Amino acid sequence: MNPSWLESAVFYQIYPQSFCDSNGDGIGDLPGIISKLDYLQALGVNAIWINPCFESPFQDAGYDISDYYRIAPRYGTNADARQLFTEARNRGFHVLLDLVPGHTSNAHPWFQASCKHQPNEYSDWYLWTDSGWTWEIPGLRLISGYAERDACYAANFFYFQPALNYGFADPDPRYPWQQSVDAPGPQTVRRKLREIMEFWLVMGCSGFRVDMAASLVKNDPGWRETTNLWREIRAWLDRDYPESALVSEWSHPAAAIQAGFHGDFLLPFGSAGYASLFRKSRPGGAGSDPYGFSFFDPAGHGNIRQFLDEYESLYQEIKGRGLICLTTGNHDIAPRLGTDRTADDLEMCFLFLLSMPGAPFIYYGDEIGMRTLEGLPSKEGGLSRTGSRTPMQWTGGPAAGFSSAPVEKLYLPIDPAPGFPNVALQESDPHSLLHRVRRMIALRRAHPALWASADFQTVYGESGKYPLVFRRSASGETLLVGLNPAHDPVSICFSQPFTGERSMEIQTLYGIQQGLTVESDGLRLSLPGISGGVYSLGREK
Ligand code: NOJ
Repeated sequence: MNPSWLESAVFYQIYPQSFCDSNGDGIGDLPGIISKLDYLQALGVNAIWINPCFESPFQDAGYDISDYYRIAPRYGTNADARQLFTEARNRGFHVLLDLVPGHTSNAHPWFQASCKHQPNEYSDWYLWTDSGWTWEIPGLRLISGYAERDACYAANFFYFQPALNYGFADPDPRYPWQQSVDAPGPQTVRRKLREIMEFWLVMGCSGFRVDMAASLVKNDPGWRETTNLWREIRAWLDRDYPESALVSEWSHPAAAIQAGFHGDFLLPFGSAGYASLFRKSRPGGAGSDPYGFSFFDPAGHGNIRQFLDEYESLYQEIKGRGLICLTTGNHDIAPRLGTDRTADDLEMCFLFLLSMPGAPFIYYGDEIGMRTLEGLPSKEGGLSRTGSRTPMQWTGGPAAGFSSAPVEKLYLPIDPAPGFPNVALQESDPHSLLHRVRRMIALRRAHPALWASADFQTVYGESGKYPLVFRRSASGETLLVGLNPAHDPVSICFSQPFTGERSMEIQTLYGIQQGLTVESDGLRLSLPGISGGVYSLGREK
């Protein structure tokens, strides 16, 4: 059972170092987030995911944790986190923290102890081979020459992120150091994971986005043991914290939901369908490949089937059991949605994302069309992701209202373009993207037919053609969403996408007025270039 609040959830992802700096050190912090809750409330979102904010050397922007129980001093204190949860709850928000279960920083005291020659309590908390010369084992990234102990450790991501030991699904008898999931080390780590989750749940968070959720048990084809592990956690949550949610970074919703996650992201790295929606082919990229074009591009060369073929079957598979989470972007994705797109183009992307099933996620700044800054030196392990992690642009001016620090002390630079997108500018313009996004979020929240598990059906989605039309319905209400992200106007006819008696009063809820009309044998949708609409087809009699 999903916690009921997920049904109408619209999430906002906050990258804490780049959101709002309250103390003038050039880095965002938790009091800064608290000071912007009113902004988020006015935007209309009702759930927040905060990237890791725990103590860390920040070699991977906080995905390298050195103390799971302590807020990083640069972000504030545990008392600030408690206050954030309270203030968020008072405004009706649910807050997800980022859980990084697969690895710690190599600076974590657990790992430092685990590196020791002398066997100790922590020796089996990480994945170690039995010799410093076992450099290459298929399926593992082994790091040699680091520890006092004569062994190599497995890294989960960067070299400084040693993998915690959840064991191997099928330990290879040739390598006796591969422990089973039931061995004492893996079982202790599993208990620790639960303890960490409980610590923050008790403090007041509403669950977790789970980093690399599929990566815990090694040598686990089909994720048999990884699934068992998460199902055990989910059973515990259902019992003790039934209002909390788990959303995975897995990009394989069928597997993730089977494993007990309430929702899973589709991400460009794991889903070719999602990648085909927004990510434009770049010069020298897959320009001549019909699948290399974004559907949400005025040139109109996209192919929505690439998304729908994947999505429709996934949707059928997980329907009623969990959510597919579609996102505008995140801290790992470059370029941002707003790169090379106008407010009109972006409105189409948002209208799509905010009308689809599952839980939509808005990456901070996408609601004002922030762009990726190209060519920045890597910051905290960001590499090519760095330019999508720049400070939120609240106002004009050199520091964009993000911080009172001198510009050279900012976590990352502000968009140098004159008139760069910012909240203050867009607040004063009723046609701005920010205002449009607000209206779309309000529409979603007001209509259960647009909520997470309301029914979804493609009405028109043809290979290489525009528009996209889909139906959403719940409790007798039926809505049609029509989207034409391409320059050329479109006009199509289709039979009535519902059965049963109904009073046919078409009402425009958003977008092009009279875009949808009744014809003798069905309905006609006519949309100018780069436009869309949401239409109510009345209620069942
Ligand atoms: C996925 C996170 O989103 C990414 O930012 C991080 O670098 C890796 N996992 C490693 O934790």
